[in-house]
Amino acid sequence: MKLPPQVKLVDVGPRDGLQNEKQAVPAEVKIGLVHRLQEAGLKDIEVTSFVSPKWVPQMADNAQVMQGIRRRPGVRYSVLTPNMKGFEAAIAAPREEWPDEIVVFGAASEAFSQKNINCSIAESIERFRPVVAAAREKGIHVRGAMSCAVGCPYEGEIAPERVGMLARLMKDIGVQHVGVADTIGVGTPLKVRRAIEATLEHYGIDDISGHYHDTYGQALSNTLASLELGVWQFDTSVGGLGGCPFAKGATGNVATEDVVYMLHGMGIETGIDLDQLIDAGVYINQALGREPNSRVSKALRTKRSA
Ligand code: HMG
Ligand code: MG
Repeated sequence: MKLPPQVKLVDVGPRDGLQNEKQAVPAEVKIGLVHRLQEAGLKDIEVTSFVSPKWVPQMADNAQVMQGIRRRPGVRYSVLTPNMKGFEAAIAAPREEWPDEIVVFGAASEAFSQKNINCSIAESIERFRPVVAAAREKGIHVRGAMSCAVGCPYEGEIAPERVGMLARLMKDIGVQHVGVADTIGVGTPLKVRRAIEATLEHYGIDDISGHYHDTYGQALSNTLASLELGVWQFDTSVGGLGGCPFAKGATGNVATEDVVYMLHGMGIETGIDLDQLIDAGVYINQALGREPNSRVSKALRTKRSA
């Protein structure tokens, strides 16, 4: 079996991880998390989202967080921008505080599209179109998230053809990279493979990533199945934080610690220092008053204290 020798992880903890938290998380803590992640070797960090503060109050401090981070050369900082209002807010700051990458987020399920971004799939593409054009014109990389790529909390199972259709729509408007997202973590390896294969009809393997929530404990298996197809980019979340307020029952993304442990154990490089990453997970979980949701973090911390 030929596996990628290197993998790039995008830590989505500061965004996907924290967007669902009911308790207030101060901007300084979010900034502290970004700093710890980059010190641990993460080269891609999803920092925040420029969405409606009425819909997602936790991300209302987006500009403050973007302004507060100490940029490290070689690190790509991304933010979610669902429409022009969000994109304009993301670039209202001086250029050095702009995101390096923006994410437009669509869904393979009509019902989820309505619940999450209040419009149909077709309408979402029309909202994204000017955002993508404006971002690319300014030299900002554009990623597209494809939610509910295997299952939807409202529509149930999602056929791979629908993922292929969304990928084609994203491609048509100039989205450069797409993430196959198992929003509610119901996917199993063969279903995830089929969603990726449908995406491969429109995007090359270097422009596809996996974004797996771990609700049913399948995310590591789904990651391995994706690696076997040649996928080498994944979104993960430190401490297994995460969830979408509009995806009932969804829990966190697969923990970055668990994925790093698996990859290093397979001889695949990530450039990430697992010890420092564990400390980053402890830091944010202490701020939230709980334990990191990562088996690897727990096991290695037990070993450390022994
Ligand atoms: P809408 O209500 O359809 O938008 O919301 P609208 O254009 O009709 O505007 C309504 C109000 O929202 C107006 O304010 C706008 O100014 C304001 P009002 O006049 O009522 O005071 N507004 C905004 N404010 C700030 N920033 C903006 C913005 N846009 C409009 N960008 C919208 C549409 C998309 C904004 C809304 O539905 C929304 O914010 N949804 C939140 C979606 C979200 O953040 N979901 C979680 C992230 S996605 C995710 O987690 C999945 C992912 O991880 C992959 C996976 O796992 O599947 C990526
Ligand atoms: Mg997600």
